[in-house]
Amino acid sequence: MMRYFFVVLLLVNSACAKKSSEKPVQNWQTLNGDRPVVIARGGFSGLFPESSQFAYQFAISTSLPDVILFCDLQLTKDGQGICQTDIRLDNSTNIALIYPRGQKTYNVNGEKVHGWFSVDYTSKQLFTNVTLTQNVLSRPSLFDDSLPLSTVEDATGLRPPKFWLNVQYDTFYTQHNLNVASYVQKASKSMGINYISSPEISFLKSLNGKLNKARTKLIFRFLDANAVEPTTKQTYSSLLENLSSIKLFASGILVPKDYIWPVNTNKYLEAATSLVADAHKQGLEVFASGFANDMTGSYNYSYDPTAEYLQFIDNSEFSVDGVLSDFPPTASEAIACLAQNKNTSKPSKGKALIITHNGASGVFADSTDLAYQQAVDDRADIIDCSVQMTKDGVAFCLDSPDLMRDSTVMTSFMSRSTMIPEIQQNSGIFSFDLTWSEIQTLKPQLTSPVQSDNPLPRNPANKNKGKFITLSEFLDFAKEKAVTGILINIENAAYLASKKGLSLTDAVTKALSNATFDKQATQQVLIQSDDSSVLSKFKDAPNYKKVLTIKEIISDAPKQPTEEIKKFADAVNLPRPSLVSTSGFFTTAFTDVVDKMHASNISVYVSVLRNEYTVIAFDFFSDPIVELATYISGIGVDGIITEYPATASAYLRSPCSDLNGDVPYPILPPEPGSLLSLAPPELLPPAEAPAPPLNASDVVDPPLPPVVSDISDTGPAAVPTGTPKRSGQTANVVNVGLCLVAIVVLSLVSLGY
Ligand SMILES: *[C@@H]1O[C@H](CO)[C@@H](O)[C@H](O)[C@H]1NC(C)=O
Ligand SMILES: *[C@@H]1O[C@H](CO)[C@@H](O)[C@H](O)[C@H]1NC(C)=O
Ligand SMILES: *[C@@H]1O[C@H](CO)[C@@H](O)[C@H](O)[C@H]1NC(C)=O
Ligand SMILES: *[C@@H]1O[C@H](CO)[C@@H](O)[C@H](O)[C@H]1NC(C)=O
Ligand SMILES: *[C@@H]1O[C@H](CO)[C@@H](O)[C@H](O)[C@H]1NC(C)=O
Ligand SMILES: *[C@@H]1O[C@H](CO)[C@@H](O)[C@H](O)[C@H]1NC(C)=O
Ligand SMILES: *[C@@H]1O[C@H](CO)[C@@H](O)[C@H](O)[C@H]1NC(C)=O
Ligand SMILES: *[C@@H]1O[C@H](CO)[C@@H](O)[C@H](O)[C@H]1NC(C)=O
Repeated sequence: MMRYFFVVLLLVNSACAKKSSEKPVQNWQTLNGDRPVVIARGGFSGLFPESSQFAYQFAISTSLPDVILFCDLQLTKDGQGICQTDIRLDNSTNIALIYPRGQKTYNVNGEKVHGWFSVDYTSKQLFTNVTLTQNVLSRPSLFDDSLPLSTVEDATGLRPPKFWLNVQYDTFYTQHNLNVASYVQKASKSMGINYISSPEISFLKSLNGKLNKARTKLIFRFLDANAVEPTTKQTYSSLLENLSSIKLFASGILVPKDYIWPVNTNKYLEAATSLVADAHKQGLEVFASGFANDMTGSYNYSYDPTAEYLQFIDNSEFSVDGVLSDFPPTASEAIACLAQNKNTSKPSKGKALIITHNGASGVFADSTDLAYQQAVDDRADIIDCSVQMTKDGVAFCLDSPDLMRDSTVMTSFMSRSTMIPEIQQNSGIFSFDLTWSEIQTLKPQLTSPVQSDNPLPRNPANKNKGKFITLSEFLDFAKEKAVTGILINIENAAYLASKKGLSLTDAVTKALSNATFDKQATQQVLIQSDDSSVLSKFKDAPNYKKVLTIKEIISDAPKQPTEEIKKFADAVNLPRPSLVSTSGFFTTAFTDVVDKMHASNISVYVSVLRNEYTVIAFDFFSDPIVELATYISGIGVDGIITEYPATASAYLRSPCSDLNGDVPYPILPPEPGSLLSLAPPELLPPAEAPAPPLNASDVVDPPLPPVVSDISDTGPAAVPTGTPKRSGQTANVVNVGLCLVAIVVLSLVSLGY
């Protein structure tokens, strides 16, 4: 049963090393003014099969030092206590395979339930062959079929700081001639149980006076509002009406989280109920259940699981006394690192820049006025504009020249759909085929990035809000809001020059100069492109920082191509997999690309970070903040490019983001590959071929072609030659100076200035 125990201990010891004192000034609105507690349901069940040794051990090692392990008690035929949430074992174990004829139907509190029940098996039968499986699809199945069930002794044997036993089915086990109360009494003598909860009033009353009250708290658990409590035959919602009667036999209550912050059918949070205040008035502690990073439940949290905890512990009215979570490290981090921080500012020195990706585009549609305003409210350092051109030469901000994903263009301009292989593989409706006044008639559209089979929609209430803005409006906005800086992204410049007679670089230069960004040094200007010749065009503007986007995934940055970059860029923007290699959603290694870039004095920004757990490796605990900590404090990037700047600034403002300081709880980057190493070798995903190293041919592009001037007003441009493609280019095509003058002149003409 303890086969894996040793490995886990080794692995997590280093993670515990830095835990230290609490933050000094905290003022909690809990019943006793104490910090809320973290209760780990079945251990770290968000990662490992619920109630497995791995789950319990990891909960202890990754959570606050006073974490409470939560065990749902079931009894075997011979009266042994085991930890499993469901009264049926078939959903969370392989029991149906081991005992194919073991299915039974029992009456459980008035309902017929089919399945495999622990009361039909002796502990010997259950512990010889039955293994645990992960029963939530969004969680790793890699640890299935290798871990045995845990007895209650197995869990308490790990010496958890505190232990909570939930007795969900006393009536059922009594009907099967098993005495739960006497099991619990015996167990609490030998094992130390700090909390006992039950949704059955008679059971809790039967324990009154039989346990040491100072050591063991009795908690009444509320189930769904319409479910019927077996003793009183009243619904739980009606029991809620009289909390003083609960106080007679319990010192606290455990309630589903929506008892406190109700969520309506559209998944929006409604106003809080008065439950916490009412219960506190009666002297009852309140624990809220149902927290999980992969089930945040309401759009109001923008897929940031820490935002949900803060709603319960850091609002101005009340705080719950504890949270029951499948992801106890995230709960720990919210409580110890993120609560009561709203007014602290981000330390300015030595911290990574928060750069947006199309504004706060996780919250509002890409590159809209509202997305930029949200970015400022969320305290981004650098706001970004990817410059696109309209047919009539207006530069505006949007993620892509193709309007299909980010706007309602399909409904009105379907006929303008074309295929442009130089830009993308699919057909699109491109901004340079529409005038600015046509584009202003479109509604922006908030969409989710493509996420294979589990698309998490972004806030439907914001789906069509906001408006697109011109580059000039963007610059005025950035000035007015005094953001630390701006990032101007330029792509497809060669195509637009040679095929559409539009000069992106010129439009940008002029707009920056018109807004006097060229004559000041207070706000940073970052010019970003995937095209070295675009960056080279700005080499005479030393105040601007040049950023090369390298979209290809690389595993290494050898000296030669890196030095080549240094000739025209000060920073690179790299996709996440170029810094962290993964295999089947587990990390395998950190590359040393950042160190190599730093050795050449090149800054590194990583893109794109998003809150949705479906794009976050399991090693980051489905927690966007752990991913941020990995790139920032683990790997040492100079900036993160994110669609959710609020989450990044919450992390960077937190005392826990400085691992050298005296942190209340360390948010540690994972050891890459360590989680994978816990899986049985035969279940590991096949090793993937490593990405190639950075190659000079990825880095250096041919000079921009001249801007054609003979563009007819309708239809695609009649320029026969194809745009030079990046692949097949060699390192010697670096000379850009030559045609610079010609380009400037031609583009002035074509823009009509
Ligand atoms: C299995 O358990 C999970 C988690 O409790 C639940 O979401 C799922 O619906 C269950 N599946 C079945 C078939 O009971
Ligand atoms: C249970 O395990 C034992 C020994 O490990 C094995 O001999 C037996 O066949 C297994 N039973 C089943 C039903 O798998
Ligand atoms: C609430 O419960 C207490 C104790 O059981 C009882 O005395 C009181 O009458 C109840 N109040 C209401 C409004 O039902
Ligand atoms: C949640 O979001 C909705 C829609 O934006 C808003 O109306 C509501 O007030 C929010 N709820 C809370 C509690 O902030
Ligand atoms: C934070 O700042 C706001 C506005 O300045 C102020 O109203 C609020 O009381 C402050 N909160 C704390 C906890 O200091
Ligand atoms: C120049 O700046 C002014 C004021 O910010 C703005 O109104 C105008 O549209 C800008 N012109 C161009 C060509 O960008
Ligand atoms: C690195 O760049 C900074 C400015 O970007 C400069 O001050 C410094 O001298 C450079 N260091 C090296 C070793 O080139
Ligand atoms: C770089 O890319 C070129 C062209 O794709 C290829 O011929 C060359 O072998 C590559 N160099 C390295 C070091 O991988």
